[in-house]
Amino acid sequence: MLLRCSTLTLLFALSAAFVSAQDGKLLYEQNCAACHLPNQMVVGPSLIEITKLYQKKPQEFVAWSIQPVKKRAGVIEMPSMAHLGEANLRAVHGYMITASQGLREKPAAKKDLLVRPARRPEIQRMFLPNVGPAAIAVALPGDLNYCFDAGDCRLRTIWRGDFLDCWDYYKSNGKAFAILLGQTLMSLPADESLQKRVKFLGYTVDAAGLPTFEYERDGARFRETIVADGKGLARRFEVTATKPITLTLDAATTCESGVTVKDQLTLTPAEARSFTLTVRLP
Ligand code: HEC
Repeated sequence: MLLRCSTLTLLFALSAAFVSAQDGKLLYEQNCAACHLPNQMVVGPSLIEITKLYQKKPQEFVAWSIQPVKKRAGVIEMPSMAHLGEANLRAVHGYMITASQGLREKPAAKKDLLVRPARRPEIQRMFLPNVGPAAIAVALPGDLNYCFDAGDCRLRTIWRGDFLDCWDYYKSNGKAFAILLGQTLMSLPADESLQKRVKFLGYTVDAAGLPTFEYERDGARFRETIVADGKGLARRFEVTATKPITLTLDAATTCESGVTVKDQLTLTPAEARSFTLTVRLP
């Protein structure tokens, strides 16, 4: 028991040591920046305001982020960031209290800045019409956006142009959907039979900010990264499987590996290890 305890303590100490100030910036950009800008109240208060409140109070900052409370009038309740863990939240604190140095507060924003996100890729977990609460919306570099549904574990929607208008969602405290902007190029319905065969495991983000989704489907382990390839999307897969896998292709999607019969693509475990689905868009 004692041994286990000290191993755990060591692990915690190690994981804390690995989180640097640079990680703090990345963690902020991925988890907080959609609602907290350096010098402007958008969905939540600016980093100038947060610095005034928490500059010398890292522990209180971590406590708030794990369990936020309703404080200000006319804003949504902040979602808990407990999943990031204390060490990461301390790194975010370290970054947040320096990021607004020398800046001046601008008047509060009255519209949603995610419509034209300041940077691409941008990842946003959102309630989306047709997709529901498990939607992960991504604005890719260029002008394409897509939505990956963590419920079905698959690409559900592709659209071109502006990204999302989340204002209704924020103002309704999460009861209304965000509005998908631009031109919809592909939209697949939810597939309840699929939901029983898949398990979403999460996603990682590479240095450029692009997500790789990880999930299980019929016992096989999938990693999927979606990139813009100039004419549409390339969906890159790495699958660890012991049996052949079968995927249903939509009209816009083809694959150079495996065997396609009608809309059913079958790949051997060896072929599944690395393959690309090519999506051609109007
Ligand atoms: C979906 C939007 C959203 C995200 C994402 C978000 N926040 Fe917030 N945050 C808010 C809102 C809204 C408030 C104000 C809540 C209130 O006053 O009732 C807030 C307030 C705060 C405050 C001020 C607390 C106080 O005492 O006034 C801190 C600190 C904070 N957030 C930290 C974070 C951190 C750290 C992250 C990322 C790890 C984060 N927030 C992500 C919406 C968000």
